[in-house]
Amino acid sequence: MNTQIQRSTSRPSLLTAVLLAVGAAVQAADISTLKDAYKDDFYVGVAINRTIAMGTAVRADNVNRHQEQVVKDIALVKAQFNQISPENDLKWALIQPREGADGYDFGPADAYVNFGLSNHMYIVGHTLVWHAQTPNWVFAGTNPPPVMENDSPGGRRFGRSFGYNGPRASREELLQRMHDHIATVVGRYKGKVKVWDVVNEAVADTGTNLLRNSLWLQIIGPDFIAKAFEYAHEADPDAILRYNDYSLENPAKRKKLIALIKSLQAQHVPVMAIGSQTHVSVSSPSFEVEDQTLTDLETLGLPIHITELDVNGAQGGQRDSGADVSENATTTQGGLVSDADQRLAKQYANLFKVFLKHKQFVKVVTFWGVNDAVSWRFGGKPLLFNGDDQPKPAFDAVIKAAADDPTISH
Ligand code: XIL
Repeated sequence: MNTQIQRSTSRPSLLTAVLLAVGAAVQAADISTLKDAYKDDFYVGVAINRTIAMGTAVRADNVNRHQEQVVKDIALVKAQFNQISPENDLKWALIQPREGADGYDFGPADAYVNFGLSNHMYIVGHTLVWHAQTPNWVFAGTNPPPVMENDSPGGRRFGRSFGYNGPRASREELLQRMHDHIATVVGRYKGKVKVWDVVNEAVADTGTNLLRNSLWLQIIGPDFIAKAFEYAHEADPDAILRYNDYSLENPAKRKKLIALIKSLQAQHVPVMAIGSQTHVSVSSPSFEVEDQTLTDLETLGLPIHITELDVNGAQGGQRDSGADVSENATTTQGGLVSDADQRLAKQYANLFKVFLKHKQFVKVVTFWGVNDAVSWRFGGKPLLFNGDDQPKPAFDAVIKAAADDPTISH
């Protein structure tokens, strides 16, 4: 009986297998994939938005896709990448918009993690403690906020530019909220999310201060960073805990980052990887500057993850690698630079040559979005695929960089 069933199904399946094999051979010759090209070097990942995680054309952030486009985006993510990061849905404002144990919206975050699990991808969590996309209730309490030096009497007494200007939580209250949030979120995805961005963008962009003047810093003090890492380590001792920041191509900011991480290491804080966002442009950094950036970061002795790669082709975004979310709109003004496609390809080739040169340390490279249409910097057309999910010349340049890697024999 068994034999009969086997025999009756074996002929068509043999034929199917032959056809599939032929198809696969043709495909392999025609279509290269990023994850295969770099499989011996590092994960190649992508930040996915809610439409991709949930498989539906919901409206979220800058993303406005029809269902057919979402289906294509998903196919592209599965074909090209072996690692995912959540573009927004694990940020505090999205996952815990309200206070307390009932204040969580786990739906989109669960969909994100399940997408990664069912596609056998390396799953990153982003992000636990950040000055942006954090609800006001987190910082709110009964302590009057300090009066800012440059506030006019009777004017905007509660200061400017911190987002939330009302009465504040105490240090203990804020630490408690941070602890509960991290324990709940990291605990929920324990063993599934392999890497966490524990603290995001805590280093000051300019001036002599090491740390950004955020509400985290003002209310808790500089040890908010150490506490966040300790809480995350408690919640999942096996997770790789990352410190993530932008503009590390800038020597002054890089120096501050290195000082911060060294001081955390001296205190035995479990910081286990450096995330370099790498929101760059077609005109900078040069090969040499990126090379120097990674060389300097390597002195920390930690793996390096390129966490949010995109290359801005808009004229307004050529000056620096800043990624301050409150200033994003200005970075894509003024139209595209001329020969945008070629310049993009050249810059991507440069960057991947540097990543390969440093592959001893570079373990993950994540693109910040699957295609230009869903990118947070869509005006700068900064990614490898256009809005129809078709590869641009930059895609070929990245594939070619892997093939040309002088450190491997072909
Ligand atoms: C961006 C998202 O891409 C946007 O959709 C959102 O509106 C703002 O945040 N640094 C980070 C990312 O760590 O979380 C930011 O993502 C880009 C800058």
